[in-house]
Amino acid sequence: TPALNIALLGGGTVGSQVARILTENADALTQRIGTRLNLTKILVRNPQATRDYELPTEYYTDDVDEVFEGADIVVELMGGIDPARELVLRAINQGASVVTGNKALLATHGNELYEAAAEAGVQLSFEASVGGAIPILRPLRDSLSGDKITRIMGIVNGTTNYILDEMDSTGASFNDALAEAQRLGYAEADPTADVGGADAAAKAAILAHLAFHSPFTLDQVYTEGIAEISDLDHKAAADAGYVIKLLAIVEELDDPAGVVLRVHPTLLPREHPLAAVRGAYNAVFVEAENAGELMFYGPGAGGAATASAVMGDVTSIAKRKLRGGPGRTHTARRELECLDIGEATTRY
Ligand code: NAP
Ligand code: HSE
Repeated sequence: TPALNIALLGGGTVGSQVARILTENADALTQRIGTRLNLTKILVRNPQATRDYELPTEYYTDDVDEVFEGADIVVELMGGIDPARELVLRAINQGASVVTGNKALLATHGNELYEAAAEAGVQLSFEASVGGAIPILRPLRDSLSGDKITRIMGIVNGTTNYILDEMDSTGASFNDALAEAQRLGYAEADPTADVGGADAAAKAAILAHLAFHSPFTLDQVYTEGIAEISDLDHKAAADAGYVIKLLAIVEELDDPAGVVLRVHPTLLPREHPLAAVRGAYNAVFVEAENAGELMFYGPGAGGAATASAVMGDVTSIAKRKLRGGPGRTHTARRELECLDIGEATTRY
């Protein structure tokens, strides 16, 4: 069986770990999938830079055409909207399947990308975009698709959970905790998205899309971050038996409210299960009519943890390609059309 060519867009915190897994685990992956995953090129801004996981310099390039040549699967881990959006569209239009962890892109231009992938008959997978290593999107899309989800509530940003936890448990300053979260590879290139709640809001939109079978965008999420929370707030919360957590909540309320999406700091009783989520871990509670309450928990950020989710998508696409199966990406949108759930609204 011919090898599948994997092109990486981005060789930073997550991209370098995907490159590591593809090269260090090459033989095991070949055995498991039935063909070789051949890492071809890695698009970066600065091909000369020193990286966490160093590959021979010929892998790195800033030449987009070179990266796209012969690519069967394009893995987008560069972040941001431009040029990520055009490059993902270019990959789709050249018939390559795409894996991305870019929640900001999906929560702003997701529909355009899902539709382009559907039209081109390729897959667009994004498990790494919510919850780092936690398998949460596939269970929502597949395992729970016969149930009715009523609410999802969770800690979906590792950086802010790390900062709040450090401030609460060690008395660290906000700035020191943020600097450490950046050093550990949890934060976005621009941490404003973490601290201000936009990263969690993008994830809320993606979760709501899959849970309620209707597309949502970032601007439909009421968003408050953690920048205003001081050590005095932590102390007051602790004295009263609470802990402060940044929660993302998406829920379907009775008409006319529709689906409500919100991200904001919340006081949780110390004995609440979400209060026990420490460091950069994430946890997502799903409430469904028949399944009841489910909790998904695990490392929510970081290079290796996120690369695990990316590799799950890559191997799943590779296996499907070998079987010659059809794409399955835009199930969420397709389900909306089939189930005729109607237009959902957002209330603040
Ligand atoms: P990062 O460390 O900042 O890496 C970004 C990479 O993309 C770098 O290699 C950079 O090149 C390259 N790049 C950026 N803009 C480029 C451009 N215009 N042209 C060419 N190359 C460009 O980011 P990251 O933390 O790996 O995150 C990547 C994506 O995964 C983001 O969408 C993020 O939201 C998502 N994600 C991250 C995590 C996490 O824990 N870090 C978890 C889940 C999802 P240089 O190296 O030359 O600068
Ligand atoms: N910056 C993100 C976070 C990365 O801290 O959760 C994982 O999506």
